[in-house]
Amino acid sequence: SDTNTSVDKQLLAICEVLESNVPYYNWVGFYFRNGNKEELKLGPYVGEPTDHTIIPFGKGICGQVAVSNENFVVPDVSAQDNYIACSITVKSEIVVPIFVDGHNIGQIDIDSNTIDPFTEADERFLEFVCAQVASILS
Ligand code: SME
Repeated sequence: SDTNTSVDKQLLAICEVLESNVPYYNWVGFYFRNGNKEELKLGPYVGEPTDHTIIPFGKGICGQVAVSNENFVVPDVSAQDNYIACSITVKSEIVVPIFVDGHNIGQIDIDSNTIDPFTEADERFLEFVCAQVASILS
């Protein structure tokens, strides 16, 4: 619909501003719950295309956040067993859930080519971004 197109453009603009302004944000995208299925579907993103357009709940960093409802900061992806590699250049990752009316409806996912770059300031900033996204969606 036109409404979804407008929302997707806004979400893509958020990805672009984050990727282009934070040197260690190298892939920035959104995943959302796919209807009532226990899986995530890739939304707007900036960076290398990924094969992982559908991620089952529980799988990878993203799928774990779909279940935990908590931020997941991964300083070193090579130390994670339950991790889905999208690119060999990625060293670290942060995923922050998006809540609408108290429900975890999706997440922002950021990959970095730098090892251990994410601080609590990134978490607070991305929580703010996700709250803005929630207001776009509701
Ligand atoms: N690394 C993620 C998969 C998504 S890509 O980073 C774009 C994960 O383990 O869930």
